[in-house]
Amino acid sequence: MTTPRQRNRARLLGAGSLVAATLAVALAVPAQAAGSTLQAAAAGSGRYFGTAIAGSRLNDGTYSGIANREFNMITAENEMKADATEPNQNQFNFSSGDQILNWATSNGKKVRGHALAWYSQQPGWMQNMSGSALRSAMLNHVTQVATHYKGKIYAWDVVNEAFADGSSGARRDSNLQRTGNDWIEAAFKAARAADPNAKLCYNDYNTDKWTDAKTQAVYNMVKDFKSRGVPIDCVGFQAHFNSQSPVPSNYDTTLRNFANLGVDVQITELDIEGSGSNQAQQFQGVVQACLSVARCTGITVWGVRDSDSWRASGTPLLFDSSGNKKAAYTSVLNALNAGGTTSTPDPTSTSPNPTGTATPTPTPTTTTPPSGNPSCTATYSEGEKWSDRFNGTVTIRANTNISSWTSYVTVNYPQRIIATWNGSPTWPSSNVMVMKPNGNGALSAGQTVSFGFTVMHGGNWTWPGVTCTAS
Ligand code: XIL
Repeated sequence: MTTPRQRNRARLLGAGSLVAATLAVALAVPAQAAGSTLQAAAAGSGRYFGTAIAGSRLNDGTYSGIANREFNMITAENEMKADATEPNQNQFNFSSGDQILNWATSNGKKVRGHALAWYSQQPGWMQNMSGSALRSAMLNHVTQVATHYKGKIYAWDVVNEAFADGSSGARRDSNLQRTGNDWIEAAFKAARAADPNAKLCYNDYNTDKWTDAKTQAVYNMVKDFKSRGVPIDCVGFQAHFNSQSPVPSNYDTTLRNFANLGVDVQITELDIEGSGSNQAQQFQGVVQACLSVARCTGITVWGVRDSDSWRASGTPLLFDSSGNKKAAYTSVLNALNAGGTTSTPDPTSTSPNPTGTATPTPTPTTTTPPSGNPSCTATYSEGEKWSDRFNGTVTIRANTNISSWTSYVTVNYPQRIIATWNGSPTWPSSNVMVMKPNGNGALSAGQTVSFGFTVMHGGNWTWPGVTCTAS
């Protein structure tokens, strides 16, 4: 039997050739190295894997058994929304929300709070309010709920679904929007004041395709918030997909562009209607997109079994209605085990990170290109460490303009490289990896590019040797 990680490695090495087949055996690692649950596999790259939980289902043993085994981040599917937490104005009811929070924390899981301010699932009294009375009621709601859960929430969806679908790029019309365009930032400020340690997220759907007007509008809001110091730490992508709204092919571009604004990104409500290998492939694409972005800190699916889903007829989840793992489960697990960039969330909630831009930074124009033979330098830096593995990054710097580069990474016995990212590896011998760029590899003098890998160290923590040649 092969573990998912072994299968991935075989693919990584180009299964089929004799060399690859031999190496796949030579590089075999103990089965426990690969995560055998979603949470363990995601943890391999420093990420979480979560699910939405309906409190009413927790006494179903199959449901809570799967949830406890597979997931380490929990979102209350409905129990922390305003209609549940403030059924009458200024009378708060946290019993259902607390039940989920207590189940999660007593099982060692973290909690995403969902959601403080939203046009939908408002209690009747709030739906009937408008103007300054609604604005104060909304801010009071944000303050009271965030205060009740202070210190217990990993990230809050402070504002949910505030932008319109379609091509307008406008805010969604709602009673909250009609209190004034600054309602979103007012909500974020109130949430920060109430729970300074929770990450504060803006959460929405149909913001997956980079060129869509809605995506651009949310991006511009986040950019504006960062530039004016409005407290925002993360952007949630609900990721409810079906054939009308498929996973975009360039999903990673969207996630990366948002992350470059200086926020974490998270997949917050993932479900994909469909079945079989097609569904499995789409799930894989979402996981790979997240794993390719260092600040994509985790993925949450919106329910456990297909029958638990809010769109059960679309069978959009990872377990069938009997609790069996679907093909989509296996593809997600394998994609997580194949690794990616190690997640590097912002350590503080108020990062002064310089903001990036959506478009690639233009290469500075060099009037006199440095002359001489093509040359590059490779520098090794340490990444995350675990008891059995460590990650390393190699940064390639072009000393002159170069048209491509090749880097040699030599590990020290009994170390073995078990996963790589941002490059195309080949393996002339079991301890040497030859890494070439994924694209053409052209760099201008002074430019850098990085690739990474995971080493099973077998007790030997010596740094790998790295070199670079350029053409
Ligand atoms: C859904 C729940 O899954 C359903 O049980 C409920 O009836 C309606 O809301 N976007 C969100 C979630 O942010 O809160 C929604 O959850 C799904 C869409």
